[in-house]
Amino acid sequence: MCGIVGYVGARPALNIVLDGLRRLEYRGYDSAGVAIVCDDELLTEKKAGKLANLEKTLAERVSADPDGCPAPKLGIGDGTTGIGHTRWATHGGPTDRNAHPHQSRDGRVAVIHNGIIENFAKLRAELEADGVEFDSDTDTECAAHLLAAALAELRAAGEPDGPQLLAAAMRTVSQRLEGAFTLLAVDAAIPGAVVGARRNSPLVVGRGDGENYLASDVSAFIEHTREAVELGQDQVVLITAESIEITDFDGTPAIGKNFHIDWDASAAEKGGYDYFMLKEIAEQPQAVADTLLGRLTEGGEIMLDEVRLTDQDLRDVDKIFIVACGTAYHAGLVAKYAIEHWTRIPCEVELASEFRYRDPVLDRSTLVVAISQSGETMDTLMALRHAKEQKARVLAICNTNGSTIPRESDAVLYTHSGPEIAVASTKAFLTQLVACYLIGLHLAQVRGVKYADEVGAVVAQLQEMPGKLRDLLADIEPVRELARDLKSAPTVLFIGRHVGYPVALEGALKLKELAYMHAEGFAAGELKHGPIALIDQGTPVVCVVPSPAGRGMLHDKIVSNIQEVRARGARTIVIAEEGDTAVLPYADHLITVPRTPTLLAPLVTTVPLQVLACEIAAARGHDVDQPRNLAKSVTVE
Ligand code: F6R
Repeated sequence: MCGIVGYVGARPALNIVLDGLRRLEYRGYDSAGVAIVCDDELLTEKKAGKLANLEKTLAERVSADPDGCPAPKLGIGDGTTGIGHTRWATHGGPTDRNAHPHQSRDGRVAVIHNGIIENFAKLRAELEADGVEFDSDTDTECAAHLLAAALAELRAAGEPDGPQLLAAAMRTVSQRLEGAFTLLAVDAAIPGAVVGARRNSPLVVGRGDGENYLASDVSAFIEHTREAVELGQDQVVLITAESIEITDFDGTPAIGKNFHIDWDASAAEKGGYDYFMLKEIAEQPQAVADTLLGRLTEGGEIMLDEVRLTDQDLRDVDKIFIVACGTAYHAGLVAKYAIEHWTRIPCEVELASEFRYRDPVLDRSTLVVAISQSGETMDTLMALRHAKEQKARVLAICNTNGSTIPRESDAVLYTHSGPEIAVASTKAFLTQLVACYLIGLHLAQVRGVKYADEVGAVVAQLQEMPGKLRDLLADIEPVRELARDLKSAPTVLFIGRHVGYPVALEGALKLKELAYMHAEGFAAGELKHGPIALIDQGTPVVCVVPSPAGRGMLHDKIVSNIQEVRARGARTIVIAEEGDTAVLPYADHLITVPRTPTLLAPLVTTVPLQVLACEIAAARGHDVDQPRNLAKSVTVE
């Protein structure tokens, strides 16, 4: 939530910062702003709305020179030190005045922020009592005034001006702040330095050649460098063109963890697709293949050495909790069916935002699996911290190297989706499912339980999934046509049973968040207990049908449910396996998916629902990649 970029080097900072913000805009798009240090001056610009508004204003301010490079009228295009911000509003509405950066009263210090400063009301009252006037309703502005005061105090004490002064002042301020924050700051009097501080909120360093970067995530600087440095909790980082210095908040020197980014800039580009979401849907076969890569042996064994839990640790597990939010929670709901079936270990799935408030029963033999694409979701982070306090072991499933959730977990299994830029999760969901399957199968293998003999067969089926997904996507056009037909429906209902139920929930979530339509997912068996009253003449009902070859009476039961809704006037959209003739008489629209065993079916049945939501949203004229009110990485509770 909120994207942050900082640059120091020899090149003009403005374009580099704006390019970075473009790549981070998925983190929030309520407003954007920049501050550039130029000739002992601080030049800022900020605008409510999407980054394009800021760019338009800047373009008016910076005129083009004859050879096409931006040439400054006012100098903002010249400075080689700068910071930029794209906002998801928390404190204060999405207006120009609440946009970041926020400045000290004399306009010499600028601060940008991601997170929530929880004690801001107290700090603001103190500052106001000292005569400081505020220009905004944000919590961030406190940090700007506090930093200016800390700098003034250090200067008054005779400390020499320069980058170290900025770092020292930031340490003083950080110690006064409570809550979650990443802060970046510049001072007009200290050109050539950007200081950052982080607590519970993401910040990575990009190590360049004669230039360095700070950003909420690596996509902001991947175009310039693939060498990065991970920061720890409660640290301050000072970058100049030639140096990166990290300390704890008390000034103790610290060493960041270097890492190489193994994807390139093109992974964060649209690559000819109209939307990132369409590109990311199309990337799913590869993302699933990459997440399986190196984790399966030819003999059908699962190799998860990287997870860092010993076989004995896994044998000691007597209960599993999965905690996650939104789409990742739906992945957890699917995982419950698979994990309990293969391992016979009781598995509960809980919304991370609810977990710690109900005092769950956890101990050393509980395994808590925290699923998070971003690795920064505050609700999930707080749930994992609660689990650790209760001595449970925490295993993260995450897509973002070096993010907070895997760093604070005892073990991690990374999904290899590559960057997911569209706010609505697609390929991350499929790879979260794969990671959950791998964990379930691995546990079954290690513990040698009754169903462990299924592992080899399931491994073979998993390896077929990338091919099946390719086939499915090659034949997706009818879903697009259907989407255009459904775009004016007042409501769309989704039903499923067993693992089809979380798929129904996911289909409804996608439609809500992208198309802003009323959509609900139900366990098909629950319809008759109330929701069936919603069905009116022509109400579209998407029915997720399991394989007829699957367990028990599951298939027949849902076919009955389809008949029930149809009898009440519903227009049925049936997602069923190829060759499932039993559904034909009851399907107003049939979408077929490749034959897949029941437990793995969500890997294919989810895909048409993603496409449906994306296309309906586009047909309704919405911004598919950046739906209103949302942000990709939700770093507030
Ligand atoms: C919906 C969506 C969200 C996220 C949720 C958790 O399309 O993307 O529901 O799944 O905010 O995010 P992560 O996985 O980053 O913890």
